[in-house]
Amino acid sequence: MITRRALFAGGLSLGLSALPRRAPLSDPFRLGVASGEPTPGGVVLWTRLAMEPTAPDGLGGMPSRPVPVHWQLAKDENFRHVVRRGTEQAVPDEAHSVHVELDGLQPGAEYFYRFKADGELSPIGRTLTAPAPGTRTRALNLAFTSCADYQSGWFTAYRRMAEDEPDLIAFLGDYVYEYGPYQHPVRDQAGGECLDLAGYRLRHAQHKSDPDLRLAHAVAPWAVVWDDHDIANAWMGGELEPGRQAAAFQAYYENMPLRRAQKPEGTRLRMYRSLRWGAVANLHLLDTRQYRDPYACADGAGTVGPECVERFAPGRTILGKAQEEWLDGELSRSRATWDLLGQQVFLMEMDWVNGAGEGYSNEGWDGYVASRDRLAAAIDRYGRNGVVLTGDVHSHWAGEVRRDFRDPESKPVAVELVTTSVTSAGDGLDEYPNTAALLAENPHVKFFNGRRGYVQARLTQREMAVDFRSLPRVTTPGATAYTSGSFVVEAGSPTLFAP
Ligand SMILES: [Fe+2]
Repeated sequence: MITRRALFAGGLSLGLSALPRRAPLSDPFRLGVASGEPTPGGVVLWTRLAMEPTAPDGLGGMPSRPVPVHWQLAKDENFRHVVRRGTEQAVPDEAHSVHVELDGLQPGAEYFYRFKADGELSPIGRTLTAPAPGTRTRALNLAFTSCADYQSGWFTAYRRMAEDEPDLIAFLGDYVYEYGPYQHPVRDQAGGECLDLAGYRLRHAQHKSDPDLRLAHAVAPWAVVWDDHDIANAWMGGELEPGRQAAAFQAYYENMPLRRAQKPEGTRLRMYRSLRWGAVANLHLLDTRQYRDPYACADGAGTVGPECVERFAPGRTILGKAQEEWLDGELSRSRATWDLLGQQVFLMEMDWVNGAGEGYSNEGWDGYVASRDRLAAAIDRYGRNGVVLTGDVHSHWAGEVRRDFRDPESKPVAVELVTTSVTSAGDGLDEYPNTAALLAENPHVKFFNGRRGYVQARLTQREMAVDFRSLPRVTTPGATAYTSGSFVVEAGSPTLFAP
């Protein structure tokens, strides 16, 4: 396939070991290109100029003046049929990032794009617009993953995901980690703990300078939501140190292919929103971090026992009132076959303690049971095919969301697919000594795999086919991915079948 060859050749030429096409300091496109937020006929094109991605001031070695960036969008990868072109100013206040919001394109179409600055051409990106509203015939090939700690390993999962050429990549949080250096990192990262704008900008730039990540951005549009580490460990909204939250928000926007609707004003940033894929799927991207009530029965995130009744308090919310109402409205109006809920933390009930005794995470929806009950009720009431897409826990899981977990006879109303991490937690194991016991004690949970990787899902009007993709290792580069579990969900029946 021509497309594939050109893109992957472009991707490879970005590798640090490849022959440089230019003098080392003259390439302003070291962070690659990206696209995101597809609509029927629209998409965002992104790049950020940086000649020295790990410059300590976070500004990528760029001059403190605006730089004009020309862009082209074409129907073909040779740019013979350019359909749009324009110029944006990349300004120092936005770390020389560019977000081009396009509309009025052909729905359900493939496009190619590139940028030019200082006489240099960027790598080529491929992107897609969403199918027109009501389109029933176009499948959605979705890939999703989470948790890419640079110090914990190689970004092989991003490359393997790119090689599948999905239509859309959903990233469910922890795109960066704010941590300072580890004692024994797999890869050395630049900079210390992210505490200010320079620190977050530098961390994002270092990630984007990774060739596997750049390839994944160049191959398909992305839809991103954040988790705590994109700001700070166990963040639950609000300020940690003066200016830190605003700095994390600003760097997140600058480095992601987001619309201006997600551009922060200080510490205000609305992350929750919906994307639509014809009549096949709506993807509702949720923010379970920013508006949640405080952790139940503890000062911070952790496992709480049966004595913790606070987690059942009817007023508790993990989404916040406004987001809950918005989501209820989205579900009530949805006419798509599938309603995907892209979010951060475990939604199913999960007893994490083997044998006698119980332990529930107060960080996941188990700490906000009433919130979960209201969502399950809404999915049930509106007759939706709900699919919860989750990150955060650095392992693959699949299970069924019950209408009411306190009633063992309660029917499932949705399925949950939990993706493992790109690198976080290191190589891992397929199974752990307690895996069988955990699955036996939580009968609605059907699958676990403890390696790194991503999830592939193919959604049609009739069914969703899911492959959990795993890597034998991330502590060295280049691992081959394998399928550690496969499931099929039929529209109208929220249960997981092993094919
Ligand atoms: Fe994580």
